[in-house]
Amino acid sequence: MKIEISKMPMHVDVRVNEMKRPSLLRMAENDAPSENNVPSGDNSKPPENENEISIDALAKKFKDLGDTSLPEGPIEQPTPLSEVKQEPYNLPGPYEWITCDIDSEEVSSEVYTLLTNNYVEDDENMFRFNYSKEFLRWALRPPGYFRSWHIGVRVKSSKKLVAFITGIPAKIRVRDAIVLMAEVNFLCVHKKLRSKRLAPVMIKEVTRRVHLENIWQAAYTAGVVLPTPITTCQYWHRSLNPKKLIDVGFSRLGARMTMSRTIKLYKLPEQTATPGFRKMEPHDVPAVTRLLRNYLKQFVVAPDFDENDVEHWLLPKEDVIDSFLVESPETHEITDFCSFYTLPSSILGNQNHSILKAAYSYYNVATKTPLLQLINDALMLPRRRTTMSSMLWMLCKMRLS
Ligand SMILES: CC(C)(COP(=O)(O)OP(=O)(O)OC[C@H]1O[C@@H](n2cnc3c(N)ncnc32)[C@H](O)[C@@H]1OP(=O)(O)O)[C@@H](O)C(=O)NCCC(=O)NCCS
Repeated sequence: MKIEISKMPMHVDVRVNEMKRPSLLRMAENDAPSENNVPSGDNSKPPENENEISIDALAKKFKDLGDTSLPEGPIEQPTPLSEVKQEPYNLPGPYEWITCDIDSEEVSSEVYTLLTNNYVEDDENMFRFNYSKEFLRWALRPPGYFRSWHIGVRVKSSKKLVAFITGIPAKIRVRDAIVLMAEVNFLCVHKKLRSKRLAPVMIKEVTRRVHLENIWQAAYTAGVVLPTPITTCQYWHRSLNPKKLIDVGFSRLGARMTMSRTIKLYKLPEQTATPGFRKMEPHDVPAVTRLLRNYLKQFVVAPDFDENDVEHWLLPKEDVIDSFLVESPETHEITDFCSFYTLPSSILGNQNHSILKAAYSYYNVATKTPLLQLINDALMLPRRRTTMSSMLWMLCKMRLS
């Protein structure tokens, strides 16, 4: 279920709809304004970070990485559909499989509660992702999705949902080949059921259900290093409300900085700078699809988006996905595009604050507007949209491993 790319290209771009935080705190330290790291300064060089997974370390661990003698293509060939196991894998006695109907208010509330209390935390257990129900519906129902890939595990007696894993279909271009894949996400086991080897059974079960649709490849991201990565990613963040971020322990006041100087340093202009910068609307789907497809051509691995995909993944949905573009005031041509999604985190064990709001940079295509200007304009929008009290802007950069 994995793709193997033996010749290591310089750029890889894959959609990351689940963001793993290497360490919020450590990134926060990098963010703290200091003489070495002024936020408005040069961000092009990744910070030295002990969480950063070095490509050399990966190459040592996974001997097949960079081995150009290996043939490119699937690691395992598909087996005939008739040989795919028809029955679900066995779970320990007290548990049962369910297929989650994410359209149902009741089921989506159960999934929301499981994830809100048990999903990904930072290394210091200060923050935990708090995906909204609307976000989950968006992430789990792209064009052509399979309900059978939204898998839950319940306790038979109490019917309590205790584990979850999902897949969604995606067309991924690998060099010139369009490969149908599953994107696996939201693997979560209730904290009380950890270390009972439920996760491997869940992964096998989602794999089986993917095979039943005659799909033999998958893509996933993880906060742990699993065999064999094709890329790593590094996050940068940009504080929008430094006071709250410092109050909740996400950031620290930099050396020789006062709170008022810090607030001033991060203050954004009142107005966007780019003429023709506006929200994406339904009639923009064809132009945005063309712009994005053209942009994605440069990457060795990238999603193969058609207009239906763009409509689903990029048309604005309140508190889920925001997309903006630049329409040339003279020619009305759509020249640039940027987007972010909204993914708050719960703040754990803080008396005064419970939610940290964050906007995650998603797809950005700059052809006429300088990228920095485009991102700077986009930075203003989450704040303006919700007058958010605690904003953070996350940028992610993929690096080929
Ligand atoms: C990740 C999680 C489901 C693992 O469950 P667990 O109860 O800790 O571990 P289990 O006993 O069920 O299984 C252990 C196996 O799962 C593997 N595993 C752990 N995390 C994994 C991940 N993110 N993806 C795939 N496999 C993973 C381990 O490598 C181990 O396999 P191995 O013995 O072959 O190395 C659980 O810790 C969890 O819900 N964490 C919070 C949410 C999260 O981090 N989700 C994953 C996002 S990528």
